[in-house]
Amino acid sequence: KPLVFSGVQPTGNLHLGNYLGAIRRFVMLQDSHDCMYCVVDLHALTIAPDPVELMKATREVTAAFLAAGIDAKKHIVFNQSRVMQHAELAWVFNCVARMGWLNRMTQFKEKAGKDRENASAGLFVYPSLMAADILVYRATHVPVGDDQKQHLELTRDIAQKFNNDYSNRIADLGVGVEMMSGEEKVNGFFPLTEPLIEGPAPRVMSLRDGLKKMSKSDPSDLSRINLTDDAETISKKIRKAKTDPEGLPSEADGLKGRPEAENLVVLYAALAETSKDQVLAEFGGQQFSAFKPALADLAVAKLAPIATEMRRISADTAYIDSVLKDGGERAGKLAETTMKTVREIIGLVSS
Ligand code: TYM
Repeated sequence: KPLVFSGVQPTGNLHLGNYLGAIRRFVMLQDSHDCMYCVVDLHALTIAPDPVELMKATREVTAAFLAAGIDAKKHIVFNQSRVMQHAELAWVFNCVARMGWLNRMTQFKEKAGKDRENASAGLFVYPSLMAADILVYRATHVPVGDDQKQHLELTRDIAQKFNNDYSNRIADLGVGVEMMSGEEKVNGFFPLTEPLIEGPAPRVMSLRDGLKKMSKSDPSDLSRINLTDDAETISKKIRKAKTDPEGLPSEADGLKGRPEAENLVVLYAALAETSKDQVLAEFGGQQFSAFKPALADLAVAKLAPIATEMRRISADTAYIDSVLKDGGERAGKLAETTMKTVREIIGLVSS
């Protein structure tokens, strides 16, 4: 049965990009799949967050998952650090992944900035831990936004190299499953995970610069709509969103070369669960001064109930922690099953 896994970092400021690109899709996949949704607190350590803030953000992301409609009883919601097998498998993958592969990661280059010598080693091996998150459950499907594409390609590379390096051992122990690796049929232990980068808004852009993605770390709060923003703040941010002097075109083609205009139309379409063309059929020919208030109303209507529910859930820390504990226990059992076999495959004496 296909297993969905995805993670969100507890680094503050969950925003509309996280919601449309990831969390809303997590909710949608629940009916058709077994799902595991993880608050990746170990990943957050790569940028040395304040400990109290880290705990707060971990609970806030959990509250967002639940408020958005993730069912933590039917599925599994937990924080990464509770299941130590993630870190164990990440070490194994550090020994599988090549320096050259990690060196090519654009997210590392962006986050490390100019002062690379001073970036944490954890930031460099971040993708090995991400591969471990997914593969410790042998998950097959991973819903993410477009910015995670390269990391998921690396996850496949790691799985493939592991399967290949240990192919004899996997066959001897009889623990492989038949799978396609390109054109070839192979007997591998780890699946080659499918990224699910789809939906209407895999890459939501900054409200201040249509060429930059909306991000938790942008210093300008006007660049993003946070899931906790109130109605007035949402309206203000949309009113101040950068646009060009033209009005709205009547077809999606007319958005070419107009990244800010396109982003606002994409947001409307995604929130209304319709297409860009449909939005332009309604608003084509109008000015942004007319479109923006409609977008603001829609955003408030869709986000306010989630914000209210997040606040309600956030008030009950004990409840949130009990969800994470229960999820962590269930996840831990699954992870240990995989790791028992991994230890045997790679030759760690553990009996
Ligand atoms: P993170 O915490 O940066 O983001 C969480 C999710 O939100 C998506 N996202 C966006 N989608 C559309 N438009 C945007 N502007 C936008 N910004 C963020 C991200 O693509 C992501 O899906 N490395 C991951 C966390 C992670 C993970 C994993 C994900 C750790 N282990 C295993 C999947 C599987 C990250 O930093 O996401």
